Amino acid sequence: MTFTRTENSPFEDTQVLAEDYVPEEVLGRDHELDEISEVFQQIVDNEQPVNAFIYGISGTGKTVSIRFKRRELENALERYDDVHATFVYQNCESLSSSYQAAIAIANRFLEDPDYSFLREEISIERDVLPSSGLPKERVYDILFEILDALTYENTAYRQEMEGALAESDYDADLTAAHLLGDEPLPEGVDVDPDSVREHFESAHDILPPEEVTDYVTVILDEVDRIGTRDELLYEIPRSRTNNRVEDVLPSIIGISNDIGYKESIQSKTDSSLRLKEITFKKYDVDQLREILYQRAELAFKPEAYSEDIVPLASAYARKQGGDARYAIDLLQKAGMKAKKNEDDVVGEQHVRQAHEEKERDRVYEVTNDLSSQEQLVLAAVMFHDLREETPISRSDLYPTYKRFSGALLDNSNVPRRVADYLKEMSQLGLLERHDAYKGPGESGFEYDLDKADYQMVIQTLRDSDPTGPGENLLPEELIDTFSTLTDDDGDTQTSVDSF
Ligand SMILES: Nc1ncnc2c1ncn2[C@@H]1O[C@H](COP(=O)(O)OP(=O)(O)OP(=O)(O)O)[C@@H](O)[C@H]1O
Ligand SMILES: [Mg+2]
Repeated sequence: MTFTRTENSPFEDTQVLAEDYVPEEVLGRDHELDEISEVFQQIVDNEQPVNAFIYGISGTGKTVSIRFKRRELENALERYDDVHATFVYQNCESLSSSYQAAIAIANRFLEDPDYSFLREEISIERDVLPSSGLPKERVYDILFEILDALTYENTAYRQEMEGALAESDYDADLTAAHLLGDEPLPEGVDVDPDSVREHFESAHDILPPEEVTDYVTVILDEVDRIGTRDELLYEIPRSRTNNRVEDVLPSIIGISNDIGYKESIQSKTDSSLRLKEITFKKYDVDQLREILYQRAELAFKPEAYSEDIVPLASAYARKQGGDARYAIDLLQKAGMKAKKNEDDVVGEQHVRQAHEEKERDRVYEVTNDLSSQEQLVLAAVMFHDLREETPISRSDLYPTYKRFSGALLDNSNVPRRVADYLKEMSQLGLLERHDAYKGPGESGFEYDLDKADYQMVIQTLRDSDPTGPGENLLPEELIDTFSTLTDDDGDTQTSVDSF
């Protein structure tokens, strides 16, 4: 088969559905955007910068809001020559310590040809920093040297001066060496470097560096990933006081969706840090709709989607905790489905299918992450579900679970723990928990499969290797029951072997 272009793609522009797309307008976040503005306003006003910590659950627009405001600030600063601001954005997703974050930031600058001047400014022996091996203090020293060099003088000023020198009548090589480095003058040449510099500055309308204040704001996104080794969060704001930097005014913005992390930051920071806390609330259905209408209009061709998909996707996303990423992803997946089916219009059915698929993936992931004991409890529920004996109580489930555990029997499978497993799995949505009346003065719960389905449970157990390769947790008895019962009533086409 060869590729031919899809004739009727519903998409107008798939870029706008990408994770890193920054919309023209960030909707429904007025309060949060105002709070970020307050932080950035300090730089516009050329006043002491403020550090901030942004918290909010996943998909509440933290990253997009920072990107958006940063862009706004950078545009605004074009009008104020006496302020030079550099943003260093680092996503810490795959970094597990401050040490690694420092190396990642340093290397981004060291690898960037626009910052080749750093080689002259800082003393390092190699092209980039190795990911391990260097002492931590050495890494931090290099990082702070780099941050301290991110000045107007080293960037815009240097470029303009070089440009002006290239056009001038002076002996460019000679003068440039003096202006931009610290080469001594050859004997017999009598120019005062400062006056040459001033001449250039005024002749070419270049603002002298001493009139410009330099700000460096380091944004650490998903900063909870660096865990408790988070000293960078504190070192950066204090780096000026501690004389680690002299030429720039440093500040930090930490972003996280982990509430526990937020609390640990609060307990570690003292008031000298002036950490402004900004909380992003969950989106409500109306806000999600607004965001999706905006996105759908740009993403799809006008006739190629039904507006009904927006309220539906918004409702699903609201159920996922008001997650705008989930909502946008539904639009993207729904569009792909319509395209694949060669349907003319992206409609509610595509959104529904996309949601079911995503939900299945999520449940599968959750199931996979369960401990062996939990997976066996799930297997026991499935066993009884197959025999139409659910909802089932903990005590009726226990003997089956005990049989299934076999070799894995240890003291983690006492009835008390089984109750915890059941509770947790119902919180994860894998099982459904029903209140059960057991007689006067007694009550309890009964359990049923909810979002975990047979195939999922079997696949998870088959993929597990609790005792080594070639072993798995899938009990023979469960397979036998599954094969017999599903063959007999014929309403499940899948056989165990098809996994
Ligand atoms: N108010 C909004 N207006 C327009 N698009 C938005 C808005 N909020 C979020 N989005 C979009 O939703 C997606 C998720 O948003 P974002 O990445 O900012 O979430 P987040 O809060 O950083 O989540 P996480 O904690 O998982 O990193 C992005 O594609 C973003 O463009
Ligand atoms: Mg984010």
